Amino acid sequence: MDKSEYSPLFETKKGRGRLLYRLFATSIFVAICFIWLYRFNHIITQEEDGRKWVWLGLLASELWFGFYWILTQALRWNTVFRQPFKDRLSQRYEHMLPAVDIFVCTANPEIEPPIMVINTVLSVMAYDYPTEKLSVYLSDDGGSEITFYALLEASEFAKHWVPFCKKFKVEPRSPAAYFNTIIDSSSHFQSDTDFDNELVAIKKLYTEMESRIENATKLKRVSKEVRLKHRGFSQWDSYSSRRDHDTILQILLHKKDPNNSKDVDGFILPTLVYLAREKRPQYHHNFKAGAMNSLLRVSSIISNGKVILNVDCDMYSNNSESIRDALCFFMDEAKGHEIAFVQSPQNFENVTKNDLYGSALLVISELEFHGADGFGGPLYVGTGCFHKRESLCEMKFNDDYRHNWKSEDDLFKEANLQEIEEKSKGLASCSYEENTQWGKEMGLKYGCPVEDVITGLSIQSKGWKSVYYNPPRKAFLGVASTSLLEVLIQHKRWSEGDFQILFSKYSPAWYAFGKISFGLQMGYCSYCLWPANCLPILYYSIFPSLYLLKGIPLFPKVSSPWFIPFAYVIIGETICSLLEFLFCGGTFKGWWNNLRIWLYKRTTSYLYAFSDTILKLFGFSNSVFIITSKVSEEEVSKRHEKEIMEFGTSSPMFTILATLALLNLWCFLNVLKDVILRGGGFGAYEKMGLQVILCGFLVLINVPLYQGLFLRKDSGKLPNSLAMKSTILALGLVLSFSYV
Ligand SMILES: *[C@@H]1O[C@H](CO)[C@@H](O)[C@H](O)[C@H]1NC(C)=O
Ligand SMILES: *[C@@H]1O[C@H](CO)[C@@H](O)[C@H](O)[C@H]1NC(C)=O
Ligand SMILES: *[C@@H]1O[C@H](CO)[C@@H](O)[C@H](O)[C@H]1NC(C)=O
Repeated sequence: MDKSEYSPLFETKKGRGRLLYRLFATSIFVAICFIWLYRFNHIITQEEDGRKWVWLGLLASELWFGFYWILTQALRWNTVFRQPFKDRLSQRYEHMLPAVDIFVCTANPEIEPPIMVINTVLSVMAYDYPTEKLSVYLSDDGGSEITFYALLEASEFAKHWVPFCKKFKVEPRSPAAYFNTIIDSSSHFQSDTDFDNELVAIKKLYTEMESRIENATKLKRVSKEVRLKHRGFSQWDSYSSRRDHDTILQILLHKKDPNNSKDVDGFILPTLVYLAREKRPQYHHNFKAGAMNSLLRVSSIISNGKVILNVDCDMYSNNSESIRDALCFFMDEAKGHEIAFVQSPQNFENVTKNDLYGSALLVISELEFHGADGFGGPLYVGTGCFHKRESLCEMKFNDDYRHNWKSEDDLFKEANLQEIEEKSKGLASCSYEENTQWGKEMGLKYGCPVEDVITGLSIQSKGWKSVYYNPPRKAFLGVASTSLLEVLIQHKRWSEGDFQILFSKYSPAWYAFGKISFGLQMGYCSYCLWPANCLPILYYSIFPSLYLLKGIPLFPKVSSPWFIPFAYVIIGETICSLLEFLFCGGTFKGWWNNLRIWLYKRTTSYLYAFSDTILKLFGFSNSVFIITSKVSEEEVSKRHEKEIMEFGTSSPMFTILATLALLNLWCFLNVLKDVILRGGGFGAYEKMGLQVILCGFLVLINVPLYQGLFLRKDSGKLPNSLAMKSTILALGLVLSFSYV
């Protein structure tokens, strides 16, 4: 037997510097204990009643910060990094690679333009993988004729695009992204004339297709001639609205229809299916989880791939070898059988160098998920994730079970395409799931805005492991939000969903207890508890500054020994977070921007998420899944490129931010006034050193907000009415506090 048969298909390396980090974290913990001790001890000595309350608030905040800090250590304690070996996979398994089904989900043609959707579809159709084993399903919850039309166009274009990609090994394989890179680097064009000619030809094909699709998108309808050309459009005859229609299902490319399904070189193309599941007003559609479950059933009789990849429609594949990477984990002889899913990070292409809105989620994807992986596996985040079909559909982990990767023969050998289509349609009907385990034990779970996370958690609770694979060349790239409000709303939605999990049946705190490792449980809780950070942070952004104004110290004075633990935690954690950020590939300015967004999320997104969840627990209001707009205007993207913060509209979230910023500005100016008028430098503030620093920090980090309030003139500034309102609010707060 060949020796290589025994070499693993992937290896796992421990993160470097773990020992050093653990020592550091332990020392911080000791310092935190001293801070708690200080607070406890000194509350008792507070004479005045009013002051006791403030101190209790500070104690509560500091207890929370310490507790939360401990939770986040789980994601740093035990980082691991994975390395697959694709060449070994090819050597051993090239001829028995499993069938792979790819699900692309879209929901709204206005927010997610069809041209973007089909670029994602084309990028995954062109994976470096045997095409007869690849099937791509587009789930269109918008039920849009335009999206169907775009997919139809894409199925024709794929006949040129897929062979072109394979012949010249182009990367990335989303046509739009690829042509963008060509424009960028037109100077070092390959001089290969064959390539040049084909490139010009295919680019022309693409531009023509793009303009046809964009025209149809603009007109919001498909022309009569086009409709007559394909029988698929007749399915819209009975369509009344996107919330009320029959199942629309069309197999556009399939090996049973070889005349239509070969590329220009005569090779068979991947299977391509359009699905808009049935929608009726009286049935809840369960958002993306509902769509995914319909896809799971439909695909099981069309292609039944053993491995399932799901991506959001705005996340194109940037790496044609990702499937092979993932298979290295699943097919490894020693450990593959315990792995249920392989999660890739969410990466974004529209992130500016210093990541103004922290949308790259750098520390989460470059560090924290590696930490979760060390404790049994990352969370499932709903996109860019490879699943084993069986673990997604119910199966419990069993150590003796070995997967059979050999493809079964077609389930419906005799049936023709129409018959398969008819059969599949039934599986996507509204009533199919009634009285079944779908949404409960099978498939994705229902009843929670972040269904992905509980689905992943429940898989892990059944004994499976997951793997986080974060390659240097990123596997999937999406579009990040380019305005502050979008970012804040998106985080409100995420954090609210995560927070609700905590109180749900699938709470990582008790449901998973004893089923997953304690470290991973802590990791889950640190995400689920995001919203709870809002209260202590708000407290810390308001009261120390107000008491500074009054001249009342709340922290130990600089010369006291109790000052040391405070200083150690502040300086230590600041430097640590900076180093972490730089290690993750960020810049210094990016770190500062990230810190600002960190603060803004806590004082707005999390506050909203927190109060909404609490209200919901008491039975008020229902959750609505808000989709953030990803289409940006010209001017907005120009400002985005220059890294100027985008406000533009009035929003209660901005009022909160501006009020807090102005309140701190007022307090800080007051300190400066004192220092200048009284002379003697900051000496008088020795007793309140930490309060001055905290207030100064809050002013410094809010500089872009002051600019947006008072200095900028462009359309991305904060509206004047909001500036007025927040000034009045801030002054009102200061004055009422001073005189009451
Ligand atoms: C799209 O519309 C523009 C004008 O609105 C027209 O000039 C162009 O020819 C149209 N393209 C196609 C492919 O129909
Ligand atoms: C994203 O970036 C690309 C180029 O990097 C640009 O062409 C596109 O307009 C940007 N999209 C948005 C929504 O900002
Ligand atoms: C995407 O792929 C291209 C090569 O096709 C690579 O140059 C680029 O770095 C990748 N992007 C990311 C974010 O990894």
